[in-house]
Amino acid sequence: MCGIVGYVGARSVVDVVIDGLRRLEYRGYDSAGVALVYQPEGADPYLAFDKKAGKLANLEAVLDGQDRSLEASCGIGHTRWATHGVPSDRNAHPHLSADGRIALIHNGIIENFGQLRAELEADGVEFLSDTDTEVAAHLLGREYAADGDLTEAMTRVCARLEGAFTLLAVAADDPDTVVGARRNSPLVVGLGDGEYFLASDVAAFIAYTTDAVELGQDQIVTISRESGITVRGFDGKPSEGKPFSVDWDIAAAEKGGFETFMRKEINEQPTAVADTLRGRIDETGQIVLDEVRMSDQDFRDIDKVFIIACGTSYHAGLVTKYAIEHWTRIPCEVELASEFRYRDPVLDRSTLVVAISQSGETMDTLMAVRHAKDQKARVLSISNTVGSTIPRESDAVLYTRAGIEVAVASTKAFLTQLAACYLVGLHLAQVRGIKYADEVSAVLDELVAAPGKIAKVIENLEPVREMARQCAALGTDRVLFIGRHVGYPVALEGALKLKELAYLHAEGFAAGELKHGPISLIEDGTPVIAIVPSPRGRSLLHDKIISNIQEVKARGAKVIAICEEGDRITAAHADFVFETPASPTLLSPLLTAVPLQEFAAELATALGRDIDQPRNLAKSVTVE
Ligand code: AGP
Ligand code: GLU
Repeated sequence: MCGIVGYVGARSVVDVVIDGLRRLEYRGYDSAGVALVYQPEGADPYLAFDKKAGKLANLEAVLDGQDRSLEASCGIGHTRWATHGVPSDRNAHPHLSADGRIALIHNGIIENFGQLRAELEADGVEFLSDTDTEVAAHLLGREYAADGDLTEAMTRVCARLEGAFTLLAVAADDPDTVVGARRNSPLVVGLGDGEYFLASDVAAFIAYTTDAVELGQDQIVTISRESGITVRGFDGKPSEGKPFSVDWDIAAAEKGGFETFMRKEINEQPTAVADTLRGRIDETGQIVLDEVRMSDQDFRDIDKVFIIACGTSYHAGLVTKYAIEHWTRIPCEVELASEFRYRDPVLDRSTLVVAISQSGETMDTLMAVRHAKDQKARVLSISNTVGSTIPRESDAVLYTRAGIEVAVASTKAFLTQLAACYLVGLHLAQVRGIKYADEVSAVLDELVAAPGKIAKVIENLEPVREMARQCAALGTDRVLFIGRHVGYPVALEGALKLKELAYLHAEGFAAGELKHGPISLIEDGTPVIAIVPSPRGRSLLHDKIISNIQEVKARGAKVIAICEEGDRITAAHADFVFETPASPTLLSPLLTAVPLQEFAAELATALGRDIDQPRNLAKSVTVE
């Protein structure tokens, strides 16, 4: 998830590229860089590049200080959202081939970079960065040196790469060509009059043209002033993109056509979960967490797990507790990071403390991590921000790959935290022999199927939005959420979303707790959202929550049920039912959280709230 721009044409190349990167900066901005090819009068063409850690402004400051008397004839630019290698000048893109003739930028994850890097290093290639991307730059340089054809060279390189990648490249001795390639990552072409643009999304060039071409999976595109645009498949055969006209304004374009970042990020969840799983399950169905830098023995030595986090991340930890204890039989505690060190927790070298933090900068969580390390516990962080403070201070880290999450209310980060935590739980069970390989594979099959099911839930959210608008029209001033088992943390998360977005009183309860007091809150018409477990799972759980639904209905509640498709018993008792695809109970939060996100977003929108930047809140709480 980053910003990528390429341009060939008569305008100022550096201005078009930098302007495009600025439009894409919301996609990720821990570093930025450009590569430009110049064709001086009567002299050989040459390549120049600059790259800087930090915001785009740092790169602009470098460029502003340079001689601009000669304009480049083509170029590429990149704003990074790091996945491999901390944000730094050396890890910023572009990356160059060993001979310096090729500059390449990349959006995504090259899953087989490890073996490719070993192969190249064995051939004497010296790597200058810690990124996965650099392998593609070296491979492309070697292929280009063979025949001097950038398109052919890119074709051969793409045949060797696995994972998710959008690549753009330029060559020092070809001032009229930019080549792009895409697999599982976005790339669109802008068509101008004798000028052509390549970008992660149309926001980068919408100021210059609204005529665009969408590229499909495994396609390579070449743009040049001389020959225009040509498209081929990774197999080298001629192909075509899909022309379209952009009818968004700039603001909408930055949000992918959605009216808010939050809606965009809700819709990105299938891809975000798929990216988080990508490369971490091998072809035999086993989990591969080499990046976590903890040996199997380290995992076997663990006799207790302690999860620490705040807010939505804490709710992800609560779900994880059910999974870890069921799969591994290791005791698992979950504690609010702000409470953790004041409760004098019992920790030792055999305790694995899991710190969950999207931003990796939450001060409550950071201070809890420091306390855990003082107590000699081993700390594994689950974070969405490579190189942030909490991962840097942890013994190991497993990054989620949700891409940048701009909206303050966390959505895709939550689902990817669950996915990452499920992987850790299953890996623990796998290395400790609590679960056989086929049992782990069976759960992983369900996990790998989750993005498709999440997408199906998202496609059918209109009834949820309609229900939210009705609640807003009725002047609803409070909503209760109830759930059992992993449905309880989902109830807490649904309540948090409604609080932080709509500024309404919302509270989540363990459904079994209602009769111990909270049921006195129920009045005629009080909306109660029930997260109902699968009737195929532990039938007792399902029966119990049906009883809880009857209890609240008997007191006048209006029950909105989130339940599994085909659950006719729930449908017979609830006033409104939203069905999700069948899913194992432990993985069901990946599906049941989504309608609650949309419910909160739609109700808040109906009340005129700013759902990307709700009042009083910040995206990263860096104070205690
Ligand atoms: C969730 O929607 C909120 N933005 C907030 O509760 C957040 O989850 C919490 O502040 C923790 O943030 P972190 O994951 O970056 O540590
Ligand atoms: N995986 C590459 C890196 O970490 C690209 C990340 C991105 O999409 O910005 O540099």
